[in-house]
Amino acid sequence: MAVKLVLLLVFLSAVGSGGVSISRHIKRLNKPAVKSIKSPDGDVIDCVHISLQPAFDHPFLKDHTIQMIPSFHPDGLYDVNKVSSESISQLWHANGRCPENTVPIRRTKREDVLRASSVKRFGRKKQLNLKHPMSAEPDLVNQSGHQHAIAYVEGGKYYGTKATINVWNPQIQQHNEFSLSQLWILGGTFGQDLNSIEAGWQVSPDLYGDNNTRLFTYWTSDAYQATGCYNLFCSGFIQISSEIAMGASISPISNSGGSQYDISLLVWKDPKEGHWWLQFGDKYVLGYWPSFLFSYLADSASMIEWGGEVVNSDAGGQHTTTQMGSGLFPEDGFGKASYFRNIQVVDESNNLKPPKGMGTFTEQSNCYDVQIGISGDWGHYFYYGGPGRNPNCP
Ligand SMILES: *[C@@H]1O[C@H](CO)[C@@H](O)[C@H](O)[C@H]1NC(C)=O
Ligand SMILES: *[C@@H]1O[C@H](CO)[C@@H](O)[C@H](O)[C@H]1NC(C)=O
Repeated sequence: MAVKLVLLLVFLSAVGSGGVSISRHIKRLNKPAVKSIKSPDGDVIDCVHISLQPAFDHPFLKDHTIQMIPSFHPDGLYDVNKVSSESISQLWHANGRCPENTVPIRRTKREDVLRASSVKRFGRKKQLNLKHPMSAEPDLVNQSGHQHAIAYVEGGKYYGTKATINVWNPQIQQHNEFSLSQLWILGGTFGQDLNSIEAGWQVSPDLYGDNNTRLFTYWTSDAYQATGCYNLFCSGFIQISSEIAMGASISPISNSGGSQYDISLLVWKDPKEGHWWLQFGDKYVLGYWPSFLFSYLADSASMIEWGGEVVNSDAGGQHTTTQMGSGLFPEDGFGKASYFRNIQVVDESNNLKPPKGMGTFTEQSNCYDVQIGISGDWGHYFYYGGPGRNPNCP
């Protein structure tokens, strides 16, 4: 009896402290809002005064003067607006906009944190089961269960990239899997001290509680271990845009054989301040990652990747049916397969240039594949993706 009582007390106190810590965590993430906007997808977007955003919880940013415009902007080769694609925005815009001097932040709900394996892991990448980096192909970690279909460049010094990414809503087999399409700006070594800046779209039921396609960013300076997070879930990224919310649903989405929608992302390093800036489309400079967050990327990137990644949890010993891209293979082409187009990198003279010596990589091309090409309007481009499980990918 006594033993049972002690166990019960231990249990109750564990539950109690968990509850307090979740509340405290949510309070830390959700800053006081000047205005809140309810999005049709159920999200609440809080318009938070720019100086109260999560970045400024960071001790190094206590006296930081927010930079409202980049001191330098690389020039592109393409006028992406000339290439037919329809305008794209965020679902919450249907119900309002944030005032000047505020930044839109997707409110974190209690359920969001409860879905994470622990309060500490919320908004971070899952602790990876690190295997040896593969020797031959790009310096990728063979993360157990993660599958990629990507294009990459390595071996130079890179100061940014721009790409236009087709937007789809791939099906996810189960909640602990995800499907994303993104760019990676990388320095350091996989599995150890990797510095990474990532941006794109993702479908992640565990992170967001639904199957919507959402804009996201990620950063780490220690190979996904202790530093970094998605979106504004930790201090790091300094947002300046009052228009675009990280983690918000993108709308509209491409449909097979119908209208195609895409988003342009540009990430570049400001040669003066050293910050890494992020721009969405031609109009929206979203903000920047201060240089001090990084070691290798404080100087330059040594590799850039573009493409898709899914988690295959191999449930029941079968390959997942979680789709990558549109869920169709590259050979299906425009209107069916997902693409990245007008891919460029920022070189040492801070100009956007076509990538030199682009390679491709996929763990299992029968599940998800990638095919690169070059054309007049689209410059360097590729189609990528696939259905996951199929007769050739059991
Ligand atoms: C997401 O999609 C899966 C099937 O692909 C479905 O089982 C699940 O209920 C969906 N989740 C939500 C939150 O809508
Ligand atoms: C990745 O790891 C898995 C399981 O450990 C292995 O079966 C597979 O061959 C590896 N893939 C590559 C490309 O090394």
